[in-house]
Amino acid sequence: MWGGRFAEGPAAVMREINASIPFDKRLWRQDIAGSKAHVAMLAAQGIVTTEDAASITEGLDRVAAEYAETGVPEDLALEDIHMATESRLAELIGPAAGRLHTARSRNDQVATDFRLWVRDSIDAVEAGLAALQTALVTRAGEHADSVMPGFTHLQVAQPVTLGHHLMAYYEMIARDRSRFADARARLNRCPLGAAALAGTGFPTDRFATAAALGFDGPTANSLDSVSDRDFALDYLMAATQCSLHLSRLAEEFIIWASQPYGFVALPDAYSTGSSIMPQKRNPDAAELVRGHAGRIAGAMTALIITMKGLPLAYSKDMQDDKPPVFEAHDLLALSIAAMTGMVETVRFRTDRMRAAAEAGYSTATDLADWLVRVADIPFREAHHITGAVVKRAEADGCTLSELSIETLRAIDPRIDERVFSALSVDASVASRRSHGGTAPDQVRARIAEARAALGIA
Ligand code: ARG
Repeated sequence: MWGGRFAEGPAAVMREINASIPFDKRLWRQDIAGSKAHVAMLAAQGIVTTEDAASITEGLDRVAAEYAETGVPEDLALEDIHMATESRLAELIGPAAGRLHTARSRNDQVATDFRLWVRDSIDAVEAGLAALQTALVTRAGEHADSVMPGFTHLQVAQPVTLGHHLMAYYEMIARDRSRFADARARLNRCPLGAAALAGTGFPTDRFATAAALGFDGPTANSLDSVSDRDFALDYLMAATQCSLHLSRLAEEFIIWASQPYGFVALPDAYSTGSSIMPQKRNPDAAELVRGHAGRIAGAMTALIITMKGLPLAYSKDMQDDKPPVFEAHDLLALSIAAMTGMVETVRFRTDRMRAAAEAGYSTATDLADWLVRVADIPFREAHHITGAVVKRAEADGCTLSELSIETLRAIDPRIDERVFSALSVDASVASRRSHGGTAPDQVRARIAEARAALGIA
């Protein structure tokens, strides 16, 4: 395709290092769409004849049908998807194929294809995340009243509801979706027509190709158009943040599934057994979601380092932009699907959660708050008294609400019977009614808002 000036062919290793077809064949649908939009514009502008344009379009459809049927052949000599398609087109329709590449370059072509691919990927991820949110909201609705320990430092802190805990992840995923939406809005400008780097002398209509491919308009600077990979990095950064959230949720499931916690029974469908320890049920899917987050962050780092310090405009380094994006996309899509399945089917052992909340002195803050509110004791002093109460309960091996009123009054005589209404885990969560707090009515209000936002009200 470019050999006119070359006396010899490339060395075998050159052929191998140069070729991107093994991975960029994934762009074939976008490449065909871009070429069809381009040739339609060339015809409309009188740059190629309508007969040639019709033959090219028909030929591209035939190439696409072949790819769909038998896959894209991997001929390293043809370097990449752009040349592979053009070469097959020439075999099918003859010399008219050579007119397709008028007023464009592989530099703007690949930039366009890749943007289209990332845009499709964002749409797929968005749909997956909406399904995950739906699962979270559904399970949260079932458990708006289920009490569990809330943790800080992984130490029992204050009782919360399971619904509240699950809705925390709904919020994280909502922000992830907004990051992907931002990335999509920013990438939606069409580089096609920037040609190699400087634009073209042909009377093209970049607005027409941009519109035909669903972009908001053409990019504004030809040098930037062929060398910008921010859109891929925006995607990878959003994917990394999202994978961190999925990894944290996965980690919670892993902890909750371990026997000393026993907060969840992971479904068989998302667990594996051990080949030597028959009692085992391992949370492999969750562990792999946690592991994949590392690889996704690695993909982001790879492209950051590839792009750092590249002068304008295109350099071949940029061919390495695609494998990390493809890898991150595949891992993220799998992770989202696996977490959605787990959230939908996990069995929450609410009896164990409640028992852990009751056992962990999780209402100590409620006692301190009660001393402030009812007995008018300054908070610092109330904190001190509560510490003495917890110490006593620890020594007696009982929960706070199991201490007798006599025992409590011996620690501080200002305590009376009314304190017991504050010491139960249910009373504790019910009292946390500040906006966004864990009280069941607050949680239900947030769930209602979330269902409306998801369109599942
Ligand atoms: N396969 C190349 C890539 O992915 C296409 C662009 C080639 N451009 C060039 N000037 N050699 O980046």
